[in-house]
Amino acid sequence: MQLLGGITRRGGNGGLDADKYENDPELEKIRKERHYSWMDIVTISREKLPDYEEKIKMFYTEHLHLDEEIRYVLDGSGYFDVRDAEDRWIRIAVEKGDMITLPAGIYHRFTLDEQNYVKAMRLFVGEPVWTAHNRPADHLEARGRYMAFLAQRA
Ligand code: LAC
Ligand code: NI
Repeated sequence: MQLLGGITRRGGNGGLDADKYENDPELEKIRKERHYSWMDIVTISREKLPDYEEKIKMFYTEHLHLDEEIRYVLDGSGYFDVRDAEDRWIRIAVEKGDMITLPAGIYHRFTLDEQNYVKAMRLFVGEPVWTAHNRPADHLEARGRYMAFLAQRA
C-alpha cells in the first residue's frame, strides 16, 4: 500500500469495490478517517472531456499541488508518473478499483494508456483547489516540506 515517496495505493483486495462506489461502506470509512469531505467524478476520454487535447497536455506537464492529490479509479486505467528521491521518473499504473494518493509537493504527471479512457473520483479535504504549479515550483512551501519529508526518511 505504501509506495515510494509517501505515495499510497490501495486496490480492490483492500476492500474497495469500484462497482458500488455509490454505496460502499469501505469508501465511506476511508472518507471519514481521512476527512475527504469533497468529491466529484470525472471522465477523461476524447468523447466525454471538453477541451480534451488541451487537458491531456496539461495533465502530462510536470507539476505539483499544495495539497494531496487523491484519485479513485472507477473504470478504465492510466499512468501516474512521479519523481523519486533521485528525481527519476517512476511510472505507476492505476486501474479500476485503485485509489492512489500523491503527497502535496511531489512532482508528477498523468497520462491515459492505450484504452484512452478513465473514470475517476476526485477526493479532497475541504474546498478543492486544483491549481497545478508547473515545474519549476521549488520555492513553494509545499515543495520544501515534501523535500524535508524525503530527507528525513533517507
Ligand atoms: C491532476 C493530475 C493529472 O492534477 O495530476 O489532476
Ligand atoms: Ni496533479
